[in-house]
Amino acid sequence: MIELKKTSKTYKVNGKAVEAVKDVSLTINKGEVFGVIGYSGAGKSTLIRCINLLEKPTSGEVIIDGKNLSKLSKQELQKTRRKIGMIFQGYNLLKTATVYDNIAIPLKLEGVNKKLIQKRVEKYLSIVGLLDKQNHYPSQLSGGQKQRVAIARALAHEPEILLSDEATSALDPETTEAILSLLLKINKELGLTIFLITHELNVVQRICDRIAVMENGYVVEQGTVVSLFTNPKHPTTKRFVESENTFTIPSEIMASYRSTGKLVSLHFVGKELSEEPALALVSRKFNVLPSILAGGIEQLKNHTLGKLLVHLRGEKEEYEQAITYLTNQGVIVEEVN
Ligand SMILES: Nc1ncnc2c1ncn2[C@@H]1O[C@H](COP(=O)(O)OP(=O)(O)O)[C@@H](O)[C@H]1O
Ligand SMILES: [Mg+2]
Repeated sequence: MIELKKTSKTYKVNGKAVEAVKDVSLTINKGEVFGVIGYSGAGKSTLIRCINLLEKPTSGEVIIDGKNLSKLSKQELQKTRRKIGMIFQGYNLLKTATVYDNIAIPLKLEGVNKKLIQKRVEKYLSIVGLLDKQNHYPSQLSGGQKQRVAIARALAHEPEILLSDEATSALDPETTEAILSLLLKINKELGLTIFLITHELNVVQRICDRIAVMENGYVVEQGTVVSLFTNPKHPTTKRFVESENTFTIPSEIMASYRSTGKLVSLHFVGKELSEEPALALVSRKFNVLPSILAGGIEQLKNHTLGKLLVHLRGEKEEYEQAITYLTNQGVIVEEVN
């Protein structure tokens, strides 16, 4: 659906080159929710703007639905752009227009007839749950409601792709969760492909199928959400993942744990696995006493991810056998040092 091939974007600022995006290659499949996560300045916004050609890549290709955007005529480009909707952190609503008109005006400019405009506005306002607010002005809405209007406005053009640049970054956690659920619903019910960028881990964790991690203009790692969460390789990915799952243990306690056994972090993927009493069986099968020090369950888009920090008390030979056993049971085991 979206293919980036060695896409680069260099800005010239006072004669100096700023390489915002470097050699990025990504493929986003139809119907997928793909997330790019990175710290501020990583090049995420530049990358997303290359996809709808708000920004022309300096080199490389952007291919949408098999069409190379840089090779399209102006007219064809317009047509392809119509397949792409976009939402932003700042909503970009017209302050002097009602909710209804915020959605209707861009449709009118596109030449859609009045009757169809009304049908679309009502349909998409009802999908985002704001039909009763159609005569309100943006100033009368909360942040979450404004973002819903922006989503309805994007959807009213019936795009195939929705780009989202930090759409939830200005919202509180509860509203963020509601908007993410809405995006998931749109993805599932309308089959929309979603490409989103964010600096927040919980956003990609909650709704994405796959993620790419960006730093200094480069994509430094990409993979499924589960693989990046359970087995992050690049230091930046680790920093993101660990920012959520660190269990800090005082150093004296750590030392005592080390001298009496092994500290491990366990990941259980999938519902069945979190119910499987693999850990309980360890103490029956081996001369090892597991104690759970910390734990939690995360809901990913399609999986449940259980995490436990466990101390395996016992001799080296025993806990090593226990670790092998757990690994064979499908538990992802990582030694904590
Ligand atoms: N229009 C522009 N002109 C010059 N430099 C820019 C422009 N837009 C972004 N940059 C620079 O490109 C880099 C990446 O910016 P951006 O894509 O906004 O990152 P992010 O969205 O990840 O925070 C930054 O160093 C930024 O200063
Ligand atoms: Mg940005």
